[in-house]
Amino acid sequence: MCGIVGYIGGGAKACEVLVEGLKRLEYRGYDSAGVCVYHDGQLHTHKAPGRVAIVEQQAMADPQMLAAGAGIAHTRWATHGQPNEVNSHPHSDNSGKISLVHNGIIENYATLKQFLIERGHTFVSETDTEVLVQLIGEFYNNGCDTLEEAVLAALQEVSGTYGIVVMCVDEPDKLVAARKGSPLIVGVGKDEYVVASDASAIIEHTANVVYLHDNEVAVITRGSMRTFTLDNVPVTNEIVEVEMTLGQIAKGGYEHFMLKEIFEQPESIRTCMSGRIDTRDMRINLGGLQDVERDLVKTRKMILTACGTASYSGLVGEYLFEDLARIPTEVEYASEFRYRNPIIETDTTVIALSQSGETADTLAAIREAREKGALTLGIVNAVGSTIARETDAGVYLHAGPEIGVASTKAFTCQIVVETLMALNLGRRRFMSVPMMAKYLEALQAIPDQITEVLKQSEMIKDMLDKYIERNNWLFLGRGYNFPIALEGALKLKEISYIHAEGLPAAEMKHGPIALINEGMPVVCIATQCPTYEKVIGNIEEVRARKGAIIAIATEGDEQIRQCADHVIYVPECPEALQPLLTVIPLQLLAYHAAVARGCNVDKPRNLAKSVTVE
Ligand code: G6P
Repeated sequence: MCGIVGYIGGGAKACEVLVEGLKRLEYRGYDSAGVCVYHDGQLHTHKAPGRVAIVEQQAMADPQMLAAGAGIAHTRWATHGQPNEVNSHPHSDNSGKISLVHNGIIENYATLKQFLIERGHTFVSETDTEVLVQLIGEFYNNGCDTLEEAVLAALQEVSGTYGIVVMCVDEPDKLVAARKGSPLIVGVGKDEYVVASDASAIIEHTANVVYLHDNEVAVITRGSMRTFTLDNVPVTNEIVEVEMTLGQIAKGGYEHFMLKEIFEQPESIRTCMSGRIDTRDMRINLGGLQDVERDLVKTRKMILTACGTASYSGLVGEYLFEDLARIPTEVEYASEFRYRNPIIETDTTVIALSQSGETADTLAAIREAREKGALTLGIVNAVGSTIARETDAGVYLHAGPEIGVASTKAFTCQIVVETLMALNLGRRRFMSVPMMAKYLEALQAIPDQITEVLKQSEMIKDMLDKYIERNNWLFLGRGYNFPIALEGALKLKEISYIHAEGLPAAEMKHGPIALINEGMPVVCIATQCPTYEKVIGNIEEVRARKGAIIAIATEGDEQIRQCADHVIYVPECPEALQPLLTVIPLQLLAYHAAVARGCNVDKPRNLAKSVTVE
């Protein structure tokens, strides 16, 4: 999704910082990029569709760019208009004085555009962003004394979402940033500031940041920053330290971020559990929930809301909360929940699951839930993100930055947090100490068990040779492993572009069985659980139609070899924790399939890491 970088400082560093920043944001997904700097009384811009490297090449060959001390840059993920040079950001107004980068969507852009055309403005792009910069230009050239005044005036007229950074040729020593619905962070260095939509573009320069809140504006000069609201009321924003390190966002010897993140899961889960399990008193300590613990225990209904992979961790959560805490639980796609006028009764808790904490639909869902009086919680990875801030309370995943577009370690950490919450509530409601002890022991063994599963990575890669040309796959699972079948299919689709469908195994016979032909790969999660025999029955149904069975089974299960073409073993653990193990081979399978098919694993086509528009 779109990314923003802005820089102002001494010397002539702007171009280098902006381009490096854009590279750090590449993982978010984009289809064009651009940079604009101020130097020698003029704005100088380079934009191009395609990779940041193209803009970098152009910019580095331009002496004006290399001499600049301030500028703005952007990676665009097309919403209004094709990903071509003209539609790329930065955009400028008709006078050529003002340049702007924008994340988000200006919803009333058509009305504003009409107004501006009547005032004599001409437009070159199809974007909503150009409307915004022209509007700022209109105010700037008609009565406003400063850039920030013009920005404020324009933003009063706008409906929609934005994170923007604006610069003006008449006020070269200044960047104006504003946000509503799209994240913006200001890195505070020594006599320099880096503004970005994501901390990964900042940490190379400074760990000290200010998170702008919705409806806030920052005026940044070389040596100072002041922030105020859209109503021009000054605000003081605390400088906080970000924990992310450069090492964390580098590939660390792995060929792809996704593979690194798959292999990081034992560690990320350990970190996620660290300090939260007290085996002496058989308690779970989730600091972020302390203030709402009493309300949480009284909850009569949970609604878990999320998008994409996070919604499948929510489905696992449904099993966990109902099974371990006996709380009726529903899961709903955030995009549906937000427009459905959901029924929220007293004692309903709505939990948003999100890696980025910025997904537009999830954020809107949580706002809707708050509006209706629910207790809202966030299970979020990105510290200080909007969902983390706007929920009543929450639990961070502490999974570390997830760079690969396809979510892996955030997914398993989301399940770990749900498990901790469900156990905590279960224990306070009815669960016996021995039962709690059994689960806690098993949960703490999970990181080492994942390490065991990861050892089969090469075996999974070799096994794939036989199926790599197949364009249709099925994934079957029951109970706790039904959401894992959905996640396995999603992973394969999103990074290898192979069509795959995930199903509750018994549903196959109600339609999808018609797809099965000779050699069609069908991944069956057939671990030891009460429905094991039923899954074997489903496997036989596939075999009868000559499908190829790739089974995920529990170590020691020799019987399954008789009906499966391939078996991938996972260690034994309670059924409620199995998703944490069974998803690992499916992540590896998708990864190796994507590599074998020559796909761009970390940046799959058409996808974005963080979808901050509807
Ligand atoms: C995008 C990503 C997915 C992710 C989903 C939700 O579609 O490509 O990998 O699961 O957004 O993102 P979130 O940050 O809210 O977990």
